[in-house]
Amino acid sequence: AGNKTLTIIKPFAVKNGKLGAILHKIEESGYRFAAIKTLKLEKHEAEEFYAEHQGKPFFDDLTDFMSSGPITAAILTKENAVEDFRYLIGATDPSEAQEGTIRKMFATSKTRNAIHGSDSDESADRECDFFFSRRERLKTDI
Ligand code: CMP
Repeated sequence: AGNKTLTIIKPFAVKNGKLGAILHKIEESGYRFAAIKTLKLEKHEAEEFYAEHQGKPFFDDLTDFMSSGPITAAILTKENAVEDFRYLIGATDPSEAQEGTIRKMFATSKTRNAIHGSDSDESADRECDFFFSRRERLKTDI
């Protein structure tokens, strides 16, 4: 399995001063930052990022929310990063997320769920390329 994943700390968490706490939890869990930046997506950029969800009932709310304020995107490295990170963030619905997961601690709803993690190595490649150029990566091989 690949050794990198793409995460986004979502607008609500950034706005509410939880960015540092979430980044700390990620580092403490063994991930290393290979790239990181804070930016604001345009609505059409959020639609492009989440293109696979086009047509689903939550697509408009999701892309409105993701373009509503600053987000922090990062490339994380660790062995088995994609699968382990999905476990660390917890279920999409915070009411179903396990104790100790990032969504249990910081999410407030399925849309306002604090954090994103790539769902496969193929998604991780695509999502890392969406946010980061080669020059922006602190390791040249990821
Ligand atoms: P994320 O991991 O960023 O990837 C897709 C997002 O769609 C997901 O987090 C949720 O915020 C959102 N999502 C997925 N399923 C639902 C749902 N049933 N209702 C509302 N939002 C959803």
